[in-house]
Amino acid sequence: MSISTKTMGKQRVLSGIQPTGNLHLGNYLGAIRNWVDVQSEYENFFFVVDLHAITVPHNRATLASETYTIAALYLACGIDLNYSTIFVQSHVTAHSELTWLLNCITPLNWLERMIQFREKARKQGENVNTGLLDYPVLMASDILLYDADIVPVGEDQKQHLELTRNIASRLNEQFGNKKEPVLKLPEPLIRTAGARVMSLTDGTSKMSKSDPSDMSRINLLDPPDLINKKIKRCKTDPLKGLTFDDPSRPECDNLLTLYMLLSGKTKEAVAAECQDMGWGQFKPLLAEATIEALKPIQDKHKAIMEDKGYLDSVLREGRQKAEVIADSTLSRVKNALGYLPPS
Ligand code: TYM
Repeated sequence: MSISTKTMGKQRVLSGIQPTGNLHLGNYLGAIRNWVDVQSEYENFFFVVDLHAITVPHNRATLASETYTIAALYLACGIDLNYSTIFVQSHVTAHSELTWLLNCITPLNWLERMIQFREKARKQGENVNTGLLDYPVLMASDILLYDADIVPVGEDQKQHLELTRNIASRLNEQFGNKKEPVLKLPEPLIRTAGARVMSLTDGTSKMSKSDPSDMSRINLLDPPDLINKKIKRCKTDPLKGLTFDDPSRPECDNLLTLYMLLSGKTKEAVAAECQDMGWGQFKPLLAEATIEALKPIQDKHKAIMEDKGYLDSVLREGRQKAEVIADSTLSRVKNALGYLPPS
């Protein structure tokens, strides 16, 4: 068995987002928007990463509804079922099974050095579960199961992608041969603009679902008055005249970048428009561009959420398509490792 054949020779893209709380502008600009932009060129798999969601304490009362919300947001943001498959990670059991196999070839110290593990573990103190350490191996399984060529993510996932490649190479070296590798090595796709959207309350830390303050982020489903309030109160500096790329003004660069991406204007146009502005003049412009960019997504999300039958059918078909590929890769790996196949 070899690496799977792809639809009409197109390269395969795969990515996902955890259903922990609402999606924010970082998830949209760093990930989903880029998926939408490139989807017609590839065969795509986008999934809701619900197994990863329990690596930190989670709320059982909201996990299922948040899973629906994320799937609906994928569609609302423009994921097109003509090019893309949407499914839920826990519906395809091969993800968990491949994780076990990869666990047994991944050195422990590779996981202990992961930046995201160290950061999250520091924040959680005593309450760190084994799954948090193992998070990147599950992510490697997600990617390797689909023989993904390209994985579009934000900057913060770069190290996990490198680890995925290292795990695949190690398995190939130990159990494959040069002519026929067992696993395909994926490439990350990280766009420069929007790859690291920063917090509204601190331009030096990234916008994140886990920040305790909701004022630090704009969620895709925030109503207009809340967006106005968050932007009105966001951190700025005392200077007049707004410029990109000044390391001493991280908030300024972040807010101009948001304005550029949400308004669809070029960097040059935004630089020229804002070079003499003060914050009092700029903030309403940013708020308006944000509200306008999110309105169609919010309207579409609402309509999709009102039709759970449709959403269920999308996820059911998605699971069926995903399962065929994932199960075939899992058999290939088990075969390479020497397992007795079931008769
Ligand atoms: P999650 O849910 O933490 O993030 C989802 C995506 O959003 C990007 N992102 C950002 N981009 C720019 N600025 C920010 N402030 C920002 N915050 C988040 C992330 O880089 C990511 O692309 N581990 C993954 C989920 C995952 C996955 C996978 C992704 C599990 N398995 C397989 C790709 C392929 C994660 O970070 O989820």
